[in-house]
Amino acid sequence: MTQHTKIDDCLSTRSGHLFIEDCDTVELVAKFGSPLFVISETQLRRNVRRFREAFTPHWPGGSVEVLPAIKANWILATRKILSEEGAGADIYSYGELHAALAAGVKPEMISVNGGGKQEDLVEQCIRSGVRITVEDLDEPELINRVAQRLGRKAKIRFRVKPNFPDLQKPTDFSQEKVTIDIGIQVYKSGIPAQYLPELGQQVLQMPNLELVGLHFHGGRHHPSLWYWRSLMKGYAVLIARLSSAWGGWQPREIDIGGGFAIHRDPHNKLGLRQNVVETWLTWPLVQFLRLLKPDLRYRIMGKVLPLFTKAPNRKMAPSVEEYGREAAGTLHRELTRLGVNTRGVTLQIEPGRCLYGNTGIHLARVKKFKQQTKPMPWNWVLTDTTYFFLAGGMYEYQFNHYIFANRTDDKPRFVADIVGQSCYADRILPIVQVPDVKPGDVVAMLDMGAYQEVSASNFNALPRPATLLVNGDSAEIIRRAETLEDVFRRDVIPRWLRDHEEAAA
Ligand SMILES: Cc1ncc(COP(=O)(O)O)c(C=O)c1O
Repeated sequence: MTQHTKIDDCLSTRSGHLFIEDCDTVELVAKFGSPLFVISETQLRRNVRRFREAFTPHWPGGSVEVLPAIKANWILATRKILSEEGAGADIYSYGELHAALAAGVKPEMISVNGGGKQEDLVEQCIRSGVRITVEDLDEPELINRVAQRLGRKAKIRFRVKPNFPDLQKPTDFSQEKVTIDIGIQVYKSGIPAQYLPELGQQVLQMPNLELVGLHFHGGRHHPSLWYWRSLMKGYAVLIARLSSAWGGWQPREIDIGGGFAIHRDPHNKLGLRQNVVETWLTWPLVQFLRLLKPDLRYRIMGKVLPLFTKAPNRKMAPSVEEYGREAAGTLHRELTRLGVNTRGVTLQIEPGRCLYGNTGIHLARVKKFKQQTKPMPWNWVLTDTTYFFLAGGMYEYQFNHYIFANRTDDKPRFVADIVGQSCYADRILPIVQVPDVKPGDVVAMLDMGAYQEVSASNFNALPRPATLLVNGDSAEIIRRAETLEDVFRRDVIPRWLRDHEEAAA
């Protein structure tokens, strides 16, 4: 009998191996190579349904639309799955708009976001019938002009930037102690609230524009329900103010953006904040140890540093259902209290990380286990991936759960840095517990479905890895691995250098 232990909806361990759906991850690496991103189709479908079902009961009288942030994963196959599920899309660029339309997202379910939109993008939006989410003060005039030229009426809404003076906890987007309200203020997106009353009045006079709603994306500054309650209260106050400033204007749609945490929540857990503690503790120690002989100093530090062994986050973020209750429920309650009619209003949500995150894992092979014992003991698990393939996580100091996919029953044996193959320090998972690993072992990093593959780079001329889609026991490549030829495809040797070559020949 195989021992079968569930990790979550799509991951399990069976007889010492990690499975995603019914695929053995070790066999996937043997067949498709490594490193490798793997996405679970069933999990992606489940997640989008779950978001819709979690928010709908708390938004009575109106409908709920899920517009996943395509930036988190714009692989066409994943997008096609979401289109089949009836999801819309939050778009930020020309390329993302292309991906959404190519993957069958209905234009009326697309929001095109982003500041500094150029005329060609605006024209493309109007021609394809998507809504434009306005970020700049001069954008409505441009859209109105282009719409007039095309003989169309453009649907727009304002991306707004309310003030949240009560959000006084530190934001997770910064490693310094910056409060969330300041974090929201210094973020470039959104039209500052001070300009909105006048801008709205102007727009309501523009013949080729239809102001259908408002958009606000706070982002994942904090995983808590407290944060969502505060965001929605502040947003509701602004909506009510604008409705009254615009002569009783009634929104048809209200978008609350994304920013819901992945349940295992790797965001900002790598621990520079923890490093502050480490630094305050270890720096005086280091100064004191300088008085000792180097050998003794290194030996002591070699013992002290592993005491800060890191473990993946054990404090789970709220569930999608809790987010639905708190975000939709608070917004609905506050708008009703402030006299804004929500009957028939569509609530839109744009989850990115929380929708795609747990659908994906990243698999890498161990190249070797490297050790030094002197002068300072340290261990490394060298892998064939790099944090340059996981760049989205690097920017956010993510510390992901990990499992040695062919040793799921093995006990931890060493403390080591799990590192990548680039020439940087490439400490993907620093100072973690590892079993007795051998070359060829497979390490799986969890919650890699959002932002990682799409922000991978080619540092060290490394070809980017493939992505595989699994469904049950079927697996197929949905983005192939790059070849060396791909890596150098954009390079051009100028004519005069080619001439030098010819002259020398
Ligand atoms: C407008 C907008 N919506 C949604 C998202 C998705 O955010 P998250 O991945 O935190 O859910 C983003 C992310 O930057 C965004 O800018």
